[in-house]
Amino acid sequence: MTTDHHFYEPATGHRLAHDPMNAIVGPRPIGWISTRSAAGVRNLAPYSFFNLFNYKPPIIGFASVGWKDNVANIAETGEFVWNLATRALAEVMNTSAAMVGPEVDEFDLAGIEALPSRLVKPDRVAASPVQLECRATQTLRLETKEGQTVDTWVVFGEVIGVHIAPDMLEDGVYQTGRARPILRGGGPADYFEVGDENLFRMRRPDQP
Ligand SMILES: Cc1cc2nc3c(=O)[nH]c(=O)nc-3n(C[C@H](O)[C@H](O)[C@H](O)COP(=O)(O)O)c2cc1C
Repeated sequence: MTTDHHFYEPATGHRLAHDPMNAIVGPRPIGWISTRSAAGVRNLAPYSFFNLFNYKPPIIGFASVGWKDNVANIAETGEFVWNLATRALAEVMNTSAAMVGPEVDEFDLAGIEALPSRLVKPDRVAASPVQLECRATQTLRLETKEGQTVDTWVVFGEVIGVHIAPDMLEDGVYQTGRARPILRGGGPADYFEVGDENLFRMRRPDQP
């Protein structure tokens, strides 16, 4: 065991200039989630507490710190769409994070062109090269180790429809770096942009 590491217990404070947690667990992919309220208002917002949790069926999830509009809409309708956030879309993605009331159409607010989905009601971000149409499966409220509820909600959804722009495919293989996806780092403003230059390959020990 090394003795020179900075050690802290989050419950009693990190003693650093900035909380390092989201810089340590990073960069994180972005769940750019669109929903539609029961009344028909379109909502769009990014969540960096986001990931893919299962292959078959594909299940993705995101955590909303607070009962935000997207979570409320999903509770009403059971549907959402994930849109791939890319470097070309970074600024509009950021605009869609504005905290506005549930009556505001956030596609209009961010000046984002929409496309209808095929299987669910929420629209897709037209300029995003990949969109996943999802049906919500579970919404879990987080708890502390003492069993106290936290004001954070994790929404899981099964992906029931996948849209991929043709130029993201090469001989039938999806090219992750080609879209130049962006990921969230720490602090108030850090992002990472991923491209083919970041790729390296390593197979699992039990795979040929
Ligand atoms: C890159 C990025 C990542 C974010 N990640 C989260 C997150 O994981 N959870 C969260 O609750 N808010 C997150 N936010 C803030 C929400 O996007 C913001 O609160 C938004 O207004 C919520 O929208 P809604 O109330 O329309 O659902 C993030 C914002 C940005 C720009």
